[in-house]
This record gives sequence, C-alpha cells and structure tokens, in this order.
Amino acid sequence: MTTSVFEARNLVYRYRDTLALNGLNLTIEQGKHVALLGANGSGKSTLLRILDGLYFPESGALSFCGEPLTEEHLRDDSFAFQFRRRVGFVFQNPDVQLFNPTVFDELAFGPLQLRWPKDLIRQRIGEMLEQMEITHLKDRPPHHLSGGEKKRVALASVLILDPEVLLLDEPTAALDPKSESRIIDLLIDWKGSLKTVVMATHDLDVVEDIADQAFIFQGGRVIAEGLPRDLLRDEALLKETNLIHSHRHAHPSGEIHSHLHRHHDHGH
Ligand SMILES: Nc1ncnc2c1ncn2[C@@H]1O[C@H](COP(=O)(O)OP(=O)(O)OP(=O)(O)O)[C@@H](O)[C@H]1O
Ligand SMILES: [Mg+2]
Repeated sequence: MTTSVFEARNLVYRYRDTLALNGLNLTIEQGKHVALLGANGSGKSTLLRILDGLYFPESGALSFCGEPLTEEHLRDDSFAFQFRRRVGFVFQNPDVQLFNPTVFDELAFGPLQLRWPKDLIRQRIGEMLEQMEITHLKDRPPHHLSGGEKKRVALASVLILDPEVLLLDEPTAALDPKSESRIIDLLIDWKGSLKTVVMATHDLDVVEDIADQAFIFQGGRVIAEGLPRDLLRDEALLKETNLIHSHRHAHPSGEIHSHLHRHHDHGH
C-alpha cells in the first residue's frame, strides 16, 4: 500500500477579499515528484504555504502522513518538531526566507537548531556551498546578493537538512542556465528515491524530466492530473489553462497566422 504524504480535501483559502483556493483536492504519495502547473494567480504558492503549515485553510481537510495538519495539531511540540524536520520549503521569493547576517550563518541556522555536532555542520556547509557554487559568497550578507544568488542560498539552506519532503516554489526561476541545470540534475537524481518533491514551475520544458506526476491548477482548484507526458500533449487543456497561448503573427507575405506558444517562449 502506498502512503500518502499529503491529502487535501476541499480546501478553501481566502486572503481578505481574494479567494485563492476554491475547493482544492489533491493527494501526494510518498516518493512522488509532483509538478504544480498553472497560470499566475491560480493558487500554487498558496497551496505550498498551506502544505508547509504556514497558512491554514478556512475549510476543508488536510493531512500529513495520516495526521491532521492543523494549527491546533502543530501546537503539539512533538508533531511540530517531526513535521518541521521532515518537510523543507523553498519560497518563490528568497527575500522572505533569508534573514541571517551572512550566507554561512544562513546555512548553519537549521543544523544548529537541530543541534548537529559543530564539525558535521562545518563539513556539510562546505559541501553545500560547493554544490551550489556559492563558496565565494559565504561571508556576504544574503540580502545584498543578486536574485539568482539569493535563490541558490535559499535552496542550500533547505537542502543542507536533507528533508524527506521538499516543497519547492519555482526552484529554477531567476537562475542562470548553469545553476538551473544543476538544480534540474539534483531533481533528476532524486527520482526513484523515497524523497517526495512538490514543486510549482512555469518551466514546461523540464517537467517531463523532473516530475512523474503533474497537477494543473485553475482558479484555485486542480482541474487535471496525470503523467506530465500526457498533460503536456493536451493542447486544448494547456490553452484553456493559459499554459500556452496562440499568438498572431504577420508574416512577410502579409499572411496572418496563429501559432501555439509556451509561456516562456515570449521572445517577441
Ligand atoms: N499575500 C497576498 N495577499 C492577497 N492576495 C494574495 C496574496 N498572495 C496571493 N494572493 C492572491 O491569491 C491568488 C493565488 O495566488 P498564488 O500566489 O497562490 O498564485 P500562483 O499560482 O503561485 O501564481 P504565480 O504563478 O504568479 O506564482 C491570486 O489571486 C493572488 O492575487
Ligand atoms: Mg506562485
């Protein structure tokens, strides 16, 4: 029997007057690599913050490994401790994640909280800095780094703890091609492991490589789920959910055509 890591039933979440999740259902099984796809504002980041126990839905039910993931249950120290140890979250915007005086301290923060031995902390920080190619930044204040440098520090500060469940909100956005392909390689390496990965992304070209299941969001609900290969071939579905658009071109002959474009192809 497969165990579900998260089970969400009919989640409703509202920011003041904006309905962000509108009866959302999804189940995430252990060891799956799941991509959350959908237009801007469709609810992906909101769901990830709820899965990380940062926000709580106004109605509906959510469980983590069979236990209710609620505000009340997270007040239970033993549940909160094991939940925080098992689940790591990389925010879409690294500015809200980074708060230490230096990159080194940023990476040391989680391990110190978990009371790892000092030698192990130094060793793991050294490895992580190298892996993310941020060794040269280790004494810099994180809030003075470039967008992509911040993102790499934020990823490193979560990956150093090697969480069983990773929630990644657009992990490759803002990264240069080399850093992006490092992250994609990491995600590919984790496939087939017990690690569960839930990531929101607009990078449709890599979804088939990094995910074995995809959920398409629209208006705060999941409106389709399946194998990335199948969903990404469903042109009508992609068009209707704004994942691709048809763009009108005037060709030199004067003829006007419509072509289907994926979002990131906006070169013109
Ligand atoms: N802090 C906030 N305050 C008020 N409304 C918010 C806030 N964050 C998000 N929203 C609204 O909630 C809805 C869902 O937003 P969310 O950030 O979850 O979308 P998303 O799918 O992650 O979009 P994107 O692809 O742009 O990251 C949107 O209508 C958005 O305007
Ligand atoms: Mg988002």
